[in-house]
Amino acid sequence: MLSKADNELICRVGPDAPMGKAFRHYWLPVMLSSELPEPDSVPFPVEVCGERLVVFRDTKGALGALAEHCCHRGASLLLGRVEECGIRCIYHGWKFAVDGSVLETPNVADPRFKDRFRARAYSIREAGGLVWVYLGDPAQAPPLPNWAFFDVPESHRLPVVAVVNCNYLQLMEGVVDSSHLSILHTVGLKATDEADLDFAKKTNHMQFDAAPRLEAEETDFGFHYVALRRNDRGAEPVTEARIAPYVSPCFVLNPNGDLFFAFTPINDERVLFFHVWWSAEKALGLEPLRSQQLSFVGLDEETLVHFGMTRATSVSPDRPRRENNFLQDRDAMRRGHFTGFPNFTQEDAAVSMSGGPIRDRSREMLSHADVAIARLYRSLLKSAQRAAAGQKPVGVHVDAATINGASGSLKDGEDWRGLIPYAVPPAKAAGAAG
Ligand code: FES
Ligand SMILES: [Fe+2]
Repeated sequence: MLSKADNELICRVGPDAPMGKAFRHYWLPVMLSSELPEPDSVPFPVEVCGERLVVFRDTKGALGALAEHCCHRGASLLLGRVEECGIRCIYHGWKFAVDGSVLETPNVADPRFKDRFRARAYSIREAGGLVWVYLGDPAQAPPLPNWAFFDVPESHRLPVVAVVNCNYLQLMEGVVDSSHLSILHTVGLKATDEADLDFAKKTNHMQFDAAPRLEAEETDFGFHYVALRRNDRGAEPVTEARIAPYVSPCFVLNPNGDLFFAFTPINDERVLFFHVWWSAEKALGLEPLRSQQLSFVGLDEETLVHFGMTRATSVSPDRPRRENNFLQDRDAMRRGHFTGFPNFTQEDAAVSMSGGPIRDRSREMLSHADVAIARLYRSLLKSAQRAAAGQKPVGVHVDAATINGASGSLKDGEDWRGLIPYAVPPAKAAGAAG
């Protein structure tokens, strides 16, 4: 449970809010590289933590991220022309380079005028099939964390983005909440018996125990969260452990060790939901594996369009919302379907959105099943309080390549920490940022 004030503290992400200040210390994914594939293509609108940017790829392929509104008199650069190594505002023709320097001001006779100022340019990088932006002061930007999926070939990586109309936290809570898997996702997990997908096989055992034992342990980057399920079906009883690291402020790695989640706030009431699967052996980014994986979890284009989870359909009047019961299929439920939603992603999105745009946590009743949720609130509160006091929030400098999820079978007496390469509590982590 959180007081209303603390709930506001960790949910609000605008430039003046404490959590918004915290978010401005990290590199955040804002789009897929494939959403802006060509030099000089149409500029791309990005809203992140309540701030509107225009992202463009110049003639040489370099990416730029500028404040959306032209620094002259505020016309949107989304209307601009991307040409000859810059973006030109169509109102009075001022032209800007990717770093914000002013290249031309054709309505001003003095040629030196343009050298006196710059447009607001954000730090921007491209890695792992994603475009990353740092909203804070570029001079203070930490190095871009080296996530494990950056290092595999493009063909072995599958990045995808969906839009969900609720606060970032209530969607993110779902991925540190192992106990909902065997209930909300019953149908998907049962379907895994026949499915020829790694993800499917690895989650198969979860359907047998709906009440796992849960533990969480703080680290310098956030915390590790583990779900422990007793498995007595083999010759020797074992405990199945599924370990997921939460990395501040909005990243979670799946216990299968091959899936990165990011929850980038668009604003207080909308979130970009990124998945990146990667594999050393398989070409997940190519057909047929690509389509198989995306359809299995409900992230294929057709399902995303129908359920209002693309950038375009998430703002359509037909999108899932309270008035249409989030497009739940009651006929399917009468025929025996448990949730009336087709897939994992739509189930997660529906329960998250159903709490309201920003869920009131002052009335919730946390249980033993919510160990990681409580830990998540504490970590975010710590970051918000630190940022409000002008300090660095949790885990700004992390060695991301060493962090990953893990799962495995433990014999009696074995410790789950033996399954993970990185388990340094903050007090022991030398030089940890917090
Ligand atoms: S408003 Fe952009 S050039 Fe004048
Ligand atoms: Fe879920």
